[in-house]
Amino acid sequence: MKKNLVFIVMALLVIILLYMLSAKKIAPVPFDDKHAGITEEKKCFDCHAPGRDEPLSKKHPPKFECFKCHEITYK
Ligand code: HEC
Ligand code: HEC
Repeated sequence: MKKNLVFIVMALLVIILLYMLSAKKIAPVPFDDKHAGITEEKKCFDCHAPGRDEPLSKKHPPKFECFKCHEITYK
């Protein structure tokens, strides 16, 4: 009986952990003059490449397919 309880608690902890990971907020592409109307990923690097205005941080995840993670919230 006690074993079952431990198992259930562990399972719940895993579920909560997964939920927190998936809920991590990723900033959408900002809606401002600099970003409005960009539809090509290449363009992002005009500003977000190393040495430009706003380079991606070192800990930034994959440096491609921006739109998979950063949603465009306007059209
Ligand atoms: C003309 C330069 C320029 C271009 C092109 C550009 N950005 Fe940006 N971006 C900036 C600047 C400057 C900031 C930070 C200040 C701001 O929000 O305007 C920024 C901020 C961001 C942020 C928000 C970061 C935060 O902390 O909220 C994201 C996400 C982003 N850009 C993604 C993109 C993507 C994806 C593209 C390509 C579609 C792109 N940017 C193209 C200049 C640019
Ligand atoms: C796998 C998902 C993913 C992809 C693909 C992705 N990003 Fe990000 N981006 C993130 C996350 C998560 C953060 C927040 C990082 C943090 O909070 O430390 C972020 C943060 C940013 C920021 C804020 C500054 C920084 O470096 O933390 C900018 C600007 C940005 N991304 C631009 C881009 C551009 C441009 C591309 C395409 C070349 C891109 N991202 C592709 C997930 C992604």
